[in-house]
Amino acid sequence: MKLTGWILAGAAALSFSLPAFAQAPIVVKFSHVVAESTPKGQGALKFKEVAEKLLPGKVDVQVFPSSQLFGDGKEMEALLLGDVQFIAPSLSKFDRYTKKIQIFDLPFLFDDIAAVDRFQQSPEGLALFDEMKNRGLQGVAYWHNGMKQLSTNRDQLTRPEHTKGLKFRIQASDVLEAQFRALGANPQKMAFAEVYQALQTGVVDGQENTWSNIHSQKFHEVQKTIAVTNHGLVDYMVVTNLKWWEGLPADVREGLTKAMAEATAHANKLANDLNERDLKRIQEAGKAKIQELSAEDVAAWRKAMEPVWKKFEGDIGADLIKAAMSHNK
Ligand code: LMR
Repeated sequence: MKLTGWILAGAAALSFSLPAFAQAPIVVKFSHVVAESTPKGQGALKFKEVAEKLLPGKVDVQVFPSSQLFGDGKEMEALLLGDVQFIAPSLSKFDRYTKKIQIFDLPFLFDDIAAVDRFQQSPEGLALFDEMKNRGLQGVAYWHNGMKQLSTNRDQLTRPEHTKGLKFRIQASDVLEAQFRALGANPQKMAFAEVYQALQTGVVDGQENTWSNIHSQKFHEVQKTIAVTNHGLVDYMVVTNLKWWEGLPADVREGLTKAMAEATAHANKLANDLNERDLKRIQEAGKAKIQELSAEDVAAWRKAMEPVWKKFEGDIGADLIKAAMSHNK
């Protein structure tokens, strides 16, 4: 009897003191492929700062930039395996998980980032967060980067015919593949971390990306010409592992949701400024020539890329395309 009493008393003491010292913070790994100086890099750091402020001692947020932990090829798989808790792939990198998100790759769909933002925050845009639940993925936020520009190792890039026969690095997206085929060019899917070297060694002749990605990866140092095409979008969906997310203590999930909202506002407010800053830096560096396009030039690019829309309309859904277009002014 006496022994049982001791055991019970001991257990009670233990259960009182456990929460005070024995609960380790939940480790939350956030992995991405770009530099810290970019909008996504800054958003991820903000998320860490706010989450750790709101949930002191309860979470340990670890951010891994520049493909340090996982590159393009591995990050989705790692998320599903629970090796990382948040990733923010570009919207071009989801087509193995859902065809609908391909909408963001349709060339010349959006007039500008403001139109992109209106669509993302609309009921149709927000519904895409839940599109991959059956695959174990939950979207939690859209983060902006900006509009894509096109670059090559050639002197002329004002017209679509200047890309004929050239090799372009693309993200893992069938829409982008079709876009370059429509131009008569040769697309090659490749992880972001490999692009600089592929451009430098001539494995590919060109690529498409935002000013902040071009500058932070030094693509302008290994390209001759960058045309201001604004023909497409690099934006992100921050995604988490659905099972992990739903299994979190409610207060932690709530704190992380708040931190994500603050990080989203921060990244999206910065995105435009960082791209403008990096455009200036590229101009100042004087390595690649920047080619402005006339309205006629832009019309020619638009026309050349038009066949892509028809090809993917069935997969994406005509209604979704119509809904997205309604957000242009
Ligand atoms: C890419 O070209 O792969 C980029 O979209 C990378 C990124 O995440 O911005």
